[in-house]
Amino acid sequence: METTNTRRAWPRLLLASLALALSSTVCALDITLPRETARFKESGLPGYKLVLENCMTCHSAQYVQMQPPSSPRSYWSATVQKMKKPFGAQFADEDIPAMVDYLAKTYGAERTATASMTGK
Ligand code: HEC
Repeated sequence: METTNTRRAWPRLLLASLALALSSTVCALDITLPRETARFKESGLPGYKLVLENCMTCHSAQYVQMQPPSSPRSYWSATVQKMKKPFGAQFADEDIPAMVDYLAKTYGAERTATASMTGK
C-alpha cells in the first residue's frame, strides 16, 4: 500500500514543478514585452481611435507593424475584414472604412502622403 502511494506522488510533484516553471516563464514574457512598439502610432485620423478600440483585444499593434509598407488600401481592407470573418472580431461594419484609411495612411502605401501632411 505504502509503495503505491509514494509512486503516485511522483508524477504529481513533477506536474507541480512543471506548472511553477511554466507560470514563471509567462511572467517573464509579460515583463520583457516591448511596450512602445506594441502600440498604434498616434494620429488625428478618426480611424486611430477606432483601431485602438477594435484591434487590441486579440493582439498588439505589432501584427500591423510587420506588414509590408507597400501594402495598398485594398490589402488593409481585406485584412480588417478577415479579422471580423473568420477571426471573429466584434466591430461594426461602419467602422471599417475609417480604420482602413488610418492603416493605409499610417502603415501602408499611402503613408508618405500623411507623413508630409503632419510634418513627421
Ligand atoms: C477576434 C480577434 C482579433 C481582433 C479583434 C483583431 N484581430 Fe488581427 N488577427 C487575429 C488573428 C487570429 C490573426 C492571425 C494570427 C496568426 O496568424 O498567428 C490576426 C492577424 C493580424 C494581422 C497579421 C496579418 C494577417 O493577415 O494575419 C494583422 C495586420 C492584423 N491582425 C490586424 C488587425 C487589425 C487592424 C485589427 C482591427 C481592425 C485586428 N487585427 C483585430 C485576430 C484578431
